[in-house]
Formats: sequence, structure tokens, C-alpha cells
Amino acid sequence: MDVRLRPLRESDLDRVMELEEQLFGAGAWSRGAYLEELTRAPGRTYLAAVVDRADGELVVGYAGLAAGTEAQVMTVGVDAPYRRRGIGRLLVDALLADARAHGARTVLLEVRAGDAGAQRLYARAGFEPIGRRRNYYQAEGEDAVVMRARLAPTPGPVGAETGGPAETGGPAETGGPALTGGPAAHGVPARTPQEGAENA
Ligand SMILES: CC(C)(COP(=O)(O)OP(=O)(O)OC[C@H]1O[C@@H](n2cnc3c(N)ncnc32)[C@H](O)[C@@H]1OP(=O)(O)O)[C@@H](O)C(=O)NCCC(=O)NCCS
Repeated sequence: MDVRLRPLRESDLDRVMELEEQLFGAGAWSRGAYLEELTRAPGRTYLAAVVDRADGELVVGYAGLAAGTEAQVMTVGVDAPYRRRGIGRLLVDALLADARAHGARTVLLEVRAGDAGAQRLYARAGFEPIGRRRNYYQAEGEDAVVMRARLAPTPGPVGAETGGPAETGGPAETGGPALTGGPAAHGVPARTPQEGAENA
């Protein structure tokens, strides 16, 4: 199965809405929230993972990032029949590369405390847990684990550092991250555009 990544587009939103419900249930974002993210929110990168089928292209996953020195993973999701084939990792690695290209030194995310699979995916991609946000997913009454990846600087032409997508192992700080602002970071639990929470 060939999967490729491309920018997520407004024309994908019917499919995204279909998946959003399946992936995030009560925490699903609205079409309006996605439109805001794709068209107006500053510094966003949203990617679609697509497969080609006889009847055309199918979006099987997507992910989003808010750029910054401290970048923030906004969401990552893969359609259930396409999981455990490396698509989540492909998306996360692409977000890390994008964060680095935009000058990020760290990338933060929140993930459901009870979602060991997603935490494993992020840990394997170089994230480490640095704290917890109580009742972050209010609709489900679930805590979030805050995870962070440290990025090596982009290799420059002379004597630059090299490195994988993320460097872990430094002393972990505790406490919540500085959340990205902007008008459209999605809120929890209603997933209406408001600051302070993400889908990841
Ligand atoms: C989390 C999610 C994005 C993973 O997508 P995926 O395409 O299945 O992930 P990958 O195939 O790239 O997995 C990479 C590694 O992560 C770990 N992992 C991923 N899902 C896992 C699971 N359910 N259980 C245990 N480990 C898991 C494994 O180590 C896996 O490697 P392996 O298959 O070689 O063992 C997907 O399950 C999903 O969309 N879940 C619902 C939405 C969600 O929870 N999003 C994340 C938080 S916002």
C-alpha cells in the first residue's frame, strides 16, 4: 500500500468530518474549527495521508502542527482500518521535520492519559512525558499527558549538528507547556475555536 503525504485541503473536510467523529468522538472538532485552522490560523501545517484507489484518492489520516519556537502538535489521526502500518509515525515525523524547518526547538503535545498506543507512537518518535493536565479532555473526564520532543537545530553548511528527528534524554521539566496562541487553537471539550487545547 502506497501512502503519501500532501497538504490537507478545504476540499478534504467532508472526509475529515467523517473521520473526526470516529477518531475523537465527543472531542471531535467542527468543520468551522478546521476551516479556521486551514485558512486563518497563523503558522499552521496540516497534512493528509492519502492512498490511491481505483475510484480516486482517499484520505486515511491527517495531522496538524502550530509552528513556533515551541511548536505544538494540534492533532494526529489515522482511519481505523489503516492503523499499525506506520502512517501515524509518517505523519508525526513529517510534523517534526516541519517544526524544525520553522525553527522550533521543542515540540509539545497532549495525549489522552489512557491512550497507551498513541503515547507509544509518540515515544518512539522521540517524545517524552513531561507532565499531566488534569481533566484536560473534559467531555470524557480524562487527563492529558503532556509530551515533548527536543529538536536538534537544522544542520547548517559548516560544522552543524546532525541528528534524528528528535533528541530526548535531557532533564525533563514538569509543568504545563506554553500553549500556542492564535485565534483558533481548538478548545476542549466543545472543540469550538478557543485557546488552550489541542486534539492530540
Ligand atoms: C494513535 C494513532 C494516530 C496511531 O496511528 P497508526 O497509523 O496506527 O500508528 P503507526 O502504525 O505509525 O504506529 C507506530 C508505532 O506506535 C505504536 N502504536 C501505535 N498504535 C498503537 C496501539 N494501538 N497499541 C500499541 N502501540 C501502538 C507502536 O509502537 C507502533 O509501531 P508497531 O506497529 O511497529 O508496533 C491512531 O491509532 C489513531 O488515530 N487513534 C485515534 C486518534 C488518536 O488517539 N490520536 C492520537 C492522539 S491525538
